[in-house]
Amino acid sequence: MVKVAPSILSADFCNLERDIGRVSAADWLHVDVMDGMFVPNLTVGVPVVASIRKHTDMFLDVHLMIDKPARYIDAFCKAGADLLSVHLEADHPTRIADALRAMAANGVKKAVALRPITSAKAILPYIEELDMVLVMTVEPGFGGQKFMEGQLDTIREVRALIDRYNPACELEVDGGVNARTAPLVIEAGATVLVAGSAVYGADDPAKAIEALRR
Ligand code: DX5
Ligand code: ZN
Repeated sequence: MVKVAPSILSADFCNLERDIGRVSAADWLHVDVMDGMFVPNLTVGVPVVASIRKHTDMFLDVHLMIDKPARYIDAFCKAGADLLSVHLEADHPTRIADALRAMAANGVKKAVALRPITSAKAILPYIEELDMVLVMTVEPGFGGQKFMEGQLDTIREVRALIDRYNPACELEVDGGVNARTAPLVIEAGATVLVAGSAVYGADDPAKAIEALRR
């Protein structure tokens, strides 16, 4: 069954423990880290991940939307991330490989993320060692944006590469996922759905999570 990873970007940061509790029925917790450089928005960093770790046993799926992420891999691993995603557009390929090596050295799961402009085949140099590929279905930076239908082709292409080279690898889709778009991304091959506004904007987040799974 598909996993659901609510994004705390849509939570109330003054009531983060309460809002994490509201999505305890989910499989993973998605944490969006933004540096104001790789994307035009600033969110949270290492100390907030460390605090979240102290308050929940949920699997922490940390999405790094930051330039030159290799600089911060050890710190996010020590803060308690279970999985880290680095964007392929955020540094030279040799430094992306360094970042993945640092995750492995810390025993943390490894993922690469693709902006909508990046083609599926960009994952090829890394595919065999990855635990997950993250396909963005909005421009990264903000919650509540409209799902980019054109990205369904990229999801299908990534699914084909995963099936061929590393079938155990998860395929996460992030951006504009809701009860209408979830069936489309699942059909295209997603195994993990990130949802911010669709979960936190619902009266009953647990029901919204269940609706996405179905
Ligand atoms: C956007 C973030 C997403 C965001 C998704 O850059 O990576 O995780 O929180 O929000 P929704 O589900 O509202 O599109
Ligand atoms: Zn995200």
